[in-house]
This record gives sequence, C-alpha cells and structure tokens, in this order.
Amino acid sequence: MTPEDLRKLPVSQMTVDEAEADLAALAKEIREHDRRYYQDDAPTVTDAEYDALRQRNAAIERRFPLSVRPDSPTGRVGAAPASGFKKIRHAKPMLSLGNVFDEDELQDFLDGIRRFLKELSDNPDIPLDMVAEPKIDGLSISLRYEHGRLVQAATRGDGAEGEDVTANAHTLADIPQTLPDGVPDVLEVRGEVYMSKTDFLALNDRQAERGEKTFANPRNAAAGSLRQLDAAITARRPLRFFAYAYGEVSAVDWATHGQFIERLKAWGFQVNPFTRVCDGIDHILAHYETIQAHRAELDYDIDGVVYKVDRLDWQERLGFVSRAPRWAVAHKFPAEKAETIVRDITIQVGRTGVLTPVAELEPVTVGGVVVSRATLHNADYIRALDIRVGDRVRIQRAGDVIPQVLDVVEDGFHDDRDVYVFPAACPVCGSHAVREEGEAATRCTGGLVCAAQAHERLKHFVSRDAFDIEGLGGKHVAAFFEAGLIKTPGDIFRLTPEMLDGREGWKDKSIENLMAAIAAKRRIDMPRFVHALGIRQVGQATARLLAKHYGSFAHLRDAMTDARVIGSEAMENLLSIDGIGKSMADDLIEFFAEPHNGEVLDDLLANVTVEDFAAPDTAGSPVAGKTVVFTGTLEAMSRGEAKAKAEALGAKVSGSVSKKTDIVVAGPGAGSKEKKARELGLQVLSEREWLDLVGS
Ligand code: IVH
Repeated sequence: MTPEDLRKLPVSQMTVDEAEADLAALAKEIREHDRRYYQDDAPTVTDAEYDALRQRNAAIERRFPLSVRPDSPTGRVGAAPASGFKKIRHAKPMLSLGNVFDEDELQDFLDGIRRFLKELSDNPDIPLDMVAEPKIDGLSISLRYEHGRLVQAATRGDGAEGEDVTANAHTLADIPQTLPDGVPDVLEVRGEVYMSKTDFLALNDRQAERGEKTFANPRNAAAGSLRQLDAAITARRPLRFFAYAYGEVSAVDWATHGQFIERLKAWGFQVNPFTRVCDGIDHILAHYETIQAHRAELDYDIDGVVYKVDRLDWQERLGFVSRAPRWAVAHKFPAEKAETIVRDITIQVGRTGVLTPVAELEPVTVGGVVVSRATLHNADYIRALDIRVGDRVRIQRAGDVIPQVLDVVEDGFHDDRDVYVFPAACPVCGSHAVREEGEAATRCTGGLVCAAQAHERLKHFVSRDAFDIEGLGGKHVAAFFEAGLIKTPGDIFRLTPEMLDGREGWKDKSIENLMAAIAAKRRIDMPRFVHALGIRQVGQATARLLAKHYGSFAHLRDAMTDARVIGSEAMENLLSIDGIGKSMADDLIEFFAEPHNGEVLDDLLANVTVEDFAAPDTAGSPVAGKTVVFTGTLEAMSRGEAKAKAEALGAKVSGSVSKKTDIVVAGPGAGSKEKKARELGLQVLSEREWLDLVGS
C-alpha cells in the first residue's frame, strides 16, 4: 500500500502494522510542519489540514494504545500548560458524592442515615427531610468572599487543593462581585460552572469557523473556558454558575440546607429552580421523576439528582467517609445506550498484571460523547455473552464510568464468526497468563519483567491522586520509559535537564518547569505516597486508613514485615482496622515481602521524604491516640456515630480487644470482649462514663 493509500484508510479498519506505519509517518510530518510554523514562520499547510493530521494521529493512538510512539506529537503543544495556575488549598475540603442508581440503593442510603442517627432509628416517625436538586454536569468551584467582596476562586482540583481561577471567575455574570450588607465576614460559596447547550453549539461553530479547537461536550467547553491563563478569553465565553453549597463560613445563621438556598437567592446567586425540600422517599422519587421528565428540555446537561439531608446539625453529626459525605448522595440517571459493531477485541495489561479485554468499536455517539472502546471486563464476560469480532452489540455509558458492552444484537451472521479465544500469554511480555481459582481476572505472570505492568505502575505513580507531578503525564512517562530514562519511581528523581535536552517536545522552559515540579514532590504526605505504590486493592481510601492507623511510613513498613507471621500481633492489629479484610491484608504483606519492591522502596525513600500522617488537630482531646473498642448495646448514639465521634477526637477504633487497647466502652449485653478487657486489666467504661470523658 502506498503511503497515500494508507493515509486514506479508515482508522477502524487498520491492522497494527498499518497503524504503526502511519503513526511513524504522521510523527515525522507533524514535526516538520511544527518546524516550518514555529521556527521558519513559513507553514506549508492550512490550520485545518494540520489539525486533521493531529486528529488522525490521536484517533490511531486511541485505537492502538500499545503502538503510541515515544516521539508521539500528541500532548506536545496545544494544551494549555496546567502549571500556569497558582495552587490554592481549600479551607474546607471539596467533597465528592457517592452514587445510587435505583430505588433500593436509595432506600439503603436513607436507612443508613437513620441507623447512624439513633433517635431516628428509635423513632421511625421522625421525618428525615432531604433537599433534592439536579446534579449539574459542569465543574465545581469555590468562591471566597471576605467582607462581602469576592477575593478568591478555586477549582475543585483533588478536593484538598485546586487552581486559582480568581481572575477568570471575576468575568462571569452569574458570580456576584460583591454581596449585600450583613453577609458573614468570611463566606465560601460553592457551586457548578457550566455552559448551556445552546451556547456550547454556537461556541463550537465559531471555533470551527476559525479553525480552532472544538469541544466534545458542554462540560469540557466549560472547563476549557474557565481554565484559561488569559482571563480575557474566559470573559468572551458564555459561562454560567449555579450555587448549591458552602465551604468555610465565619458565622452560620441558617439551620437547614433549604434556608441556606434561600440566603443564596437573597445574596444574588442563581440557584437551580428544581430545588425542593422532600419529606420521605416517595416525595424524593416523585421529584426525581419530575426532574428526569424535564431533562431533555433543560438547556444544560444534568446527570442525576443530588439529595442532601436538610438539617445541618444532622449533616454535621453524619460527617463524611473518606471523600464523600454520609449526608448526601447522587441519584444517577440510567445509563445511555447505543448499538455499534465490534471491530476488534484487544487486551490491556494493567499495573497489577490483569489482562482486560477491550472491544474496539465502530465509533458511535452515546449521550453526546463519541465512544470507540468499551470494556469487556474478563474472559467469563466474553464467554457468557459470546461476543465475537464483527458482532453488532449494545453498549452503555453511565456518567464518567468506562463504557461497557451489554449484549450481542442478533444479525443472523453471529454463528459464522469465530468464537473469541482469550490469550494464554501476555500480549506485551509473552509470559503465561493465568487465572487463579475463584478469580475472574486473568493475570500476566511476568510481574516485574512485564513492560506493560512496569509502565502502568509508573503512570499510576505520577497520576493525579498519587504523586501528581505537574507536567509529567502518563504520555511522558511512557516516552521516558521507552527511552530507558525512567524504569522505577526513583529514576524520576534522578532526571536531569541534560537527559531531556534535545528530546522532542522539550524546551528549556518546559524542562525547567518539570525539574521544579519534581523537586516540589520530594516531600509528600503519607496517604498519597502509600496510594502511589500501586499495591493491589489499596486505593486512596485504604491508603488513608493505613496512614491514619500507622502514623508514619516506617511504622507501616515494619508492621507489614512483622505481620508476615500468621497469628502475630502485627497481623491482628492490621486486621483490626475497620475496612481492611483478609485478602487486602494478604496483598499488603505480599507487597512489602517482595524483595524487588523493597529495593525500589529503599531507592525511592533515599530521594523522597514521606511526611508523617498529620492527625486532625485534637489537642486537648482526652482520647487522642488512644485505641478504643465499643462493645454491647449503645444507648445514646448508634455504633456508627460513636465510632465517627471517637475518630474525630483522634482515637483509633478497633473491633477487637488486645493488650494495645486503651479503653473498652461496654454497653448492656457486652460479652467476651468485656471479659477479656477485664482480664487484661484495661480501662472499661460504661457509655455514660465515656460520654462524660469526651464531653458530650
Ligand atoms: S453537592 C458535599 N450539589 O457533583 C457535597 N454537587 O459528584 C458536595 N454537583 O464535585 C457537592 N451538582 O461538582 C452538589 N446540586 C449539586 C451538584 C453537585 C453537581 C457536582 C459537584 C461535585 C460532584 C460530586
């Protein structure tokens, strides 16, 4: 095939060899065009032709992710440097929300609240009012007013720290610059920046006319428009804002969320007109139906309904678990579905070696987003649905979740196609792929020799919720990995400007920025560090639990070594952490026992300082640092609330009594735990004595 014919071949019909040949040619051509444009000021193609080359390159890379070249032009220029914004630490974290998808899950959520607030479980007649409001599909920001003036605006970022978009926020008509007299001295109003559907379409038309970048959907358009280093560009973009929450406030003078919404209106904010206080699940569901019924005619995207406990005193008692409040939840609309053809089934190798089959699809629009790949989960899933290459399938996409294949649509030719055979070897390193008893996943046994795993681990290491090294995205890590510059995490901290000098896409300034970004991460907090290690099953929430429990990384590491002995105190101690079960404990212990991991860790720790876990400020708390066990029936509070309260005061709550336990709170009916505590001579308190101790 001539290079010209190759260029005309639809991406969906390419073989791997063809894809790689075209990617090589595209990289070279785009590089030459860049040189003519940037260095010679003498472009030889129109902007539209140039964009088409980049788009084709990106489309091929999406379909053949394993063929992405180290010198890929994707991500080189174009994207606004995220490093341009100052970081802002949120005075109160910006939380995310858990999801429910149907009535049963919603009922469970409400029951959970009733169980937590003991007076509600004791008295089913006390109403639990909830405010229901649409979940706006935009990006959340926090606006800080001091003495009634807008002084700061920050994006959500990772929830703890966002980007300073103050100058940009000043340009939005929906965001008041000043507030009426009488507002609290410090007032952080939070809500969603979004773009209307009409404005989005018009913006894309304008962008296309000028040969500029168009946006995939209104949310991307809103995010891209707000996060402009030049606020004058934001000012020209039609952004809007709905307010729905608050952060730090010097004096809260409202008792319910409903009252807060009224305040917002009085202060001049837009609040969503579909916001209602509902008394009970029937009312909640009726309002959900109303919102869903109006969804299509709304001029902005919504992806569900958010329910919030109306009473603030209850919200406060309920608090939150890891990143999501116990007092609010998002009821997502059902997933959107579409039909398309499976062009190929490829295998992705994850950082823990799991081989995930992926359906490469004829691109199709599902709920406004073009989908060309969907997960097939595992070998059993493909077998159960008997999915074959060439089949017509139904796919669905729910929110930000990876699209999945639902089933095969009969077209009369299914039987003529070959049954899919799951590979017996890792497509990347060739090692055997095995499936353990009782596991759904097939794993590559290549472990540390598998390039895909090493590479995915590094990508995870630098990702946003881990080391979050500005300017060092997955793509760069891939390129550096292939070039042999980075093999283990420690190598990142040994990168020098000389090593990057002359590399495609790196200029003096970007090298300098990267070096600064890396240097900034030589100190890191313990939860991030533990999460970055990519230990099987250990996500952000577990990493936090471990940090909280062990306090320092050295302590955690020692404990994991000691816990290798079955039945050891260290093992029991690990299992006493609420949220850590046997299988997770095994993965943790295995990780720290693996000699290579030990070497990688030593090397990394020679370059990075892991901060001890900063326990919440519990100075003056009589139970800070103490290990407490609750047993028997509690009368004043539910077990859940008692535990949450103790933790807020800096205590560790454990499920089992040992020598390490400091206090056992025993209610009526306490049995073996109380007995053991007395045998060990531990402090045993009644619930009343405990409440007196902690002052409530
Ligand atoms: S409340 C403590 N209300 O959804 C709860 N969030 O998945 C904080 N969102 O980051 C959020 N509409 O960007 C809340 N009416 C609404 C919302 C809403 C959209 C977004 C928000 C948040 C995300 C959580």
